[in-house]
Amino acid sequence: MKLLNDLKLHDQIDQWKSVMFLYGSALKEIKTKIEILNSEYVHIYGHTPIEHIKSRLKSPNSIVKKLKRTGNEVTIQNMVEKLNDIAGIRIICSFTEDIYRIADMISQHGDVTVLQIKDYIRKPKPNGYKSYHMVITIPIYLNEGPVETKVEIQIRTVAMDFWASLEHKIYYKFEGNAPATLQAELKACADMVDLLDAKMSSLNQMILSLGHEE
Ligand code: GTP
Ligand code: MG
Repeated sequence: MKLLNDLKLHDQIDQWKSVMFLYGSALKEIKTKIEILNSEYVHIYGHTPIEHIKSRLKSPNSIVKKLKRTGNEVTIQNMVEKLNDIAGIRIICSFTEDIYRIADMISQHGDVTVLQIKDYIRKPKPNGYKSYHMVITIPIYLNEGPVETKVEIQIRTVAMDFWASLEHKIYYKFEGNAPATLQAELKACADMVDLLDAKMSSLNQMILSLGHEE
């Protein structure tokens, strides 16, 4: 199977366009796969686990910035080899247990190869960030053959997502140096997110078991 960096393309712009086309296609592919898993899940567990899915392609600006920040020369080859998050998809689930089930279903998919997993739910970041991250590849079928293309998948609950978007805003506003009080408040909110997620899960379990008794 051909790898992305083996592609024999000449012109730099053509190469850029082809690479971005692959990442764009990978996003569409994985999104469809996940939507199918979501429908299949209902039959097994009795509810649709996914609240919504967001996807994005990293902008040229951010690609260049990240390559520079990580001490890499700005080339298309480096971008393909060193960056895992050019194509990114975020899956927002209802309950924490759904996250692991969805992650398992994705991993077991015949087309999917898992390159990396970071479980910030079992091991949250010191600031309180929680989310399940996977870097996978899926084949994109071109005329010249399949090309394995990387996608970063983040899976989190609605509450974790709410926290992460606020933290992100604060992080950017203060350029990473938010006042200690604000950081402490955020950490306290992260603890509340844990509590809320746990409560919501047990409530859901109760609803399911009551449903079975009837
Ligand atoms: P990046 O260079 O930021 O992509 O991090 P990484 O390559 O070490 O990967 P990691 O899996 O740790 O983080 C990938 C992505 O997760 C980030 O680009 C963010 O979208 C998200 N993320 C990670 N840490 C945090 C955090 O502390 N707060 C928020 N809001 N998002 C985070
Ligand atoms: Mg990133």
